[in-house]
Amino acid sequence: MSTAVKTPQQLHTEFDVYRIREDFPVLAQQVHGKPLVYLDNAATTQKPLAVIDAISHYYRCDNSNIHRGVHALSERATEAYENARGAAQGFINAADRKEIIFLRGTTEAINLVAQTYGREHVGAGDEVLITAMEHHSNIVPWQILCKQKGAKLRVAPINDRGELVLEEFEKLLGPKTKLVAVSHLSNALGTINPIKQITRMAHERGIPVLVDGAQAAPRMPVDVQDLDCDFYAVSGHKMYAPTGIGFLYGKAALLEAMPPYQGGGDMIASVTFDKTVYNRLPYKFEAGTPNIADTIGLGAAIEYLNQLGLENIEPHEAELLAYATAEVQKIPGVEVVGTAREKAGVLSFVMGEIHPHDIGTILDSEGVAVRTGHHCAQPVMQRYGIPATVRASFGLYNTREEVDALVRGIRKVKEVMG
Ligand code: ALA
Repeated sequence: MSTAVKTPQQLHTEFDVYRIREDFPVLAQQVHGKPLVYLDNAATTQKPLAVIDAISHYYRCDNSNIHRGVHALSERATEAYENARGAAQGFINAADRKEIIFLRGTTEAINLVAQTYGREHVGAGDEVLITAMEHHSNIVPWQILCKQKGAKLRVAPINDRGELVLEEFEKLLGPKTKLVAVSHLSNALGTINPIKQITRMAHERGIPVLVDGAQAAPRMPVDVQDLDCDFYAVSGHKMYAPTGIGFLYGKAALLEAMPPYQGGGDMIASVTFDKTVYNRLPYKFEAGTPNIADTIGLGAAIEYLNQLGLENIEPHEAELLAYATAEVQKIPGVEVVGTAREKAGVLSFVMGEIHPHDIGTILDSEGVAVRTGHHCAQPVMQRYGIPATVRASFGLYNTREEVDALVRGIRKVKEVMG
């Protein structure tokens, strides 16, 4: 038997999507009498048996509170919970486990940074710089902070393709800029931002960078040390893990200096009525009994992704996106919104006067699940002068045949709506 190391090309060829689909029980169903074609992965992904079983196992065998008990169940629960932290650390190549804070997801992670780091470092007249392609979760927490502190939210523009205009972004970095917050992969447009370049530009001026990694983490290998970002926020449910769990990565030196987000049990070292000493990282930021079961589910999802390999998932999804983009563009009247040269996972489009909700409803009648609307990115819609798009978003289990079903569905929309 050959022990030669396989090239990424060979490994990708072995990525057996039809076998992989068997890991996801929800996919094997009919909707309105048609096989389900699930293309709403940017909203949330389906869960593999590995995740479902890990959660079930925890409740059947190990359910207990963590970091507190001396009994066997508590020790097992604590070990499983902390193993998930190790998995998350490895997944994004963080330098230390203590740099991983478990919380509800990207939204809570960004709010945490805004209300801890932000409240300490952003003052009256200062600026927070975001981009015009952000999700509401990377806009509103900064608006709240800016209002609290009398600071200003600045927005770097995007071009017609949906790419960040880097020269304009750089011009907006000034002495008043206290933080940059930018998405790694736009949920509405699919644009991949050049995070390394962005962090280099910001760091040259001493400005830290937070990255919204919700859509990138399930689609491409992420190395926070290589990106050199200061914070990276992830949602479990976008990466085949349960809802209500995610994590924030932060560089240890920054996290150490930040005040806690919430007070309560587990985030303290000692408490008297006069004074509380906070716990060490990462526990300082994990007040109260955490979402233990779903954290264990997140650990299982990461293990599952590691087995398949992001280096195989990325080209699989890239092929699907390229194929889908080419096929929908053959249909007269379909206009793709977001044509960035660096793009992944997401195909947003409009069809003239036909309302996206009508398109989504007809697609649903064909068994094809897509999202329609503003995708929690209303400023992106405003940038293009449209109220909404139809968004097909791909996951590791999607196939070319499912893209064909989407295309047939769009042709049906044209027949029905004229
Ligand atoms: N952020 C999720 C989406 O893009 C909900 O659909």
